[in-house]
Amino acid sequence: MAVPDRYSADAAEQIFKEGGNAIDAAVAIAFALAVTYPDAGNIGGGGFMTLYVDGKPYFLDYRESAPLAATRNMYLDDKGEVIKGMSLVGYRAVGVPGTVDGMWQAQRRFGKLKWKQVLAPAIHYARDGFVVSAKLQKRRDDAAKDFAGKTNFDTYFGDLKEGVNFRQPDLAAVLERISDQGAKGFYTGKTADLIAASMRGHGLITKADLAQYKAVWREPVQAQWNGYRVITAPPPSSGGVGLVQLLKMKADLASDFKGVPLNSAQYVHLIAEIEKRVFADRAQYLGDPDFYKVPVAQLIDDAYLAKRAAEVNPGAPSDTKSVLAGLGTSMPEKAETTHYSVVDKWGNAVSNTYTLNGAFGSGVVVDRAGIVLNDEMDDFSSKPGTANMFGVVGSDANAIEPNKRPLSSMAPTILTRDGKVVLVIGTPGGSRIFTSIFQVINNIYDYDMPLPDAVAAMRFHHQLLPENTIFWEPYKPIAGELAQQIEAKGYKLEGQSFNGDIQVIRIDGGKPDAAADPRGRGVTRVVQ
Ligand code: DON
Repeated sequence: MAVPDRYSADAAEQIFKEGGNAIDAAVAIAFALAVTYPDAGNIGGGGFMTLYVDGKPYFLDYRESAPLAATRNMYLDDKGEVIKGMSLVGYRAVGVPGTVDGMWQAQRRFGKLKWKQVLAPAIHYARDGFVVSAKLQKRRDDAAKDFAGKTNFDTYFGDLKEGVNFRQPDLAAVLERISDQGAKGFYTGKTADLIAASMRGHGLITKADLAQYKAVWREPVQAQWNGYRVITAPPPSSGGVGLVQLLKMKADLASDFKGVPLNSAQYVHLIAEIEKRVFADRAQYLGDPDFYKVPVAQLIDDAYLAKRAAEVNPGAPSDTKSVLAGLGTSMPEKAETTHYSVVDKWGNAVSNTYTLNGAFGSGVVVDRAGIVLNDEMDDFSSKPGTANMFGVVGSDANAIEPNKRPLSSMAPTILTRDGKVVLVIGTPGGSRIFTSIFQVINNIYDYDMPLPDAVAAMRFHHQLLPENTIFWEPYKPIAGELAQQIEAKGYKLEGQSFNGDIQVIRIDGGKPDAAADPRGRGVTRVVQ
């Protein structure tokens, strides 16, 4: 396993020792992280799970949905301008949480253990406490500044300080109700009453919203690439489509990449050219498939991508304004998310990314329940062409509608070869998610790097807008000679405030190898 903190590793180890499979472990990890990784782990958010069970691929969408009372222009003022921060902080930023129904459905369908067993580690950490790390306190301190005077965040998380044994009795009681009653213990009864009561007079979520929420099994996006089968996230994520587009276009441009050193200025340029085209498509075509027909097959079609790749100019950045969505316009995107990867001795795999969106979500904590609520509504396009927290724009495809799911970039991914799992990978990072996964896959398979090096290597990002801008991560800033060479090609360099956090397992010749990103507080473990 490769997981974002040591407590979730202990939880998964316990589950494996009790005879559980990868799905049991994955569900136990999700609940444990809701307690020990409250900046992103959650029961008040949502996410995606890509699974490979008994030789077959599956995908579970437990993304949050817009409340029934949500409206297209709910974040705009009288003049039609976006009200700053409204979709990010406070009660109105919250989407209907999906995590509990997601875990319930995954475990019911594929788990081996009793439901109560997978809840037990989380209940223990909530009731008896866990020791707060320095990195967690830093996240708390940063987030608390944004929430000050706007939410009740400090009432619950004011004492989240390094070295403290942090107990969450209200949350423990919620987890016990979930343990006793399954998903109903969250979506109906006392927990639902508490959520609805917190929202009354402030936010939109009602008991009706909670009672009707359902996670959805969807067909994963699948593609052949380089002898591997890529199994990844379909809409309402843009991540899987984007990842496949990146992988295939890079393969199409093999002759341009020949002899180009990894992460050199020319490499950065060629990848940025590909990314321009991916993000043009993303802004135009991607949204919730239950509300908007997303042309997935066309977007990952070999001939289409070969044509798009052929538009790349190896000599100079192509004019941003000239890069349009490729299928034509007649057809109708400081933060925290977390990913973990698990495999078991039976060959099953789970790749799971879930999120509150921003660190500690909206900053709203359900009174007397201790549940941190997401700010996923910011992933909608509040206004066509206006960028969200991650700087990405959207159109009608991703406009707000009641019950609709906001467009995501999360891309929990599994690669198989000859029907066997060879790679399980994912990361947080908003719109950087699938460009990061792409770079690590590329480091492993195209540049033959050992797993830890492939994960630790520098990463960069371009997303069409802002024009010709290459973003770097605080972990490995782009500076010195490389920076000068990239600037000489006509790009602007810009730092971003957050790092990715890749958790990856590679199985080569039947032997598992795992790496947790040195950027985060993750750990890897093999349970014998
Ligand atoms: O679904 C999405 O794409 C975003 N809400 C994910 C947020 C995220 O990765 C935050 N991490 N830096």
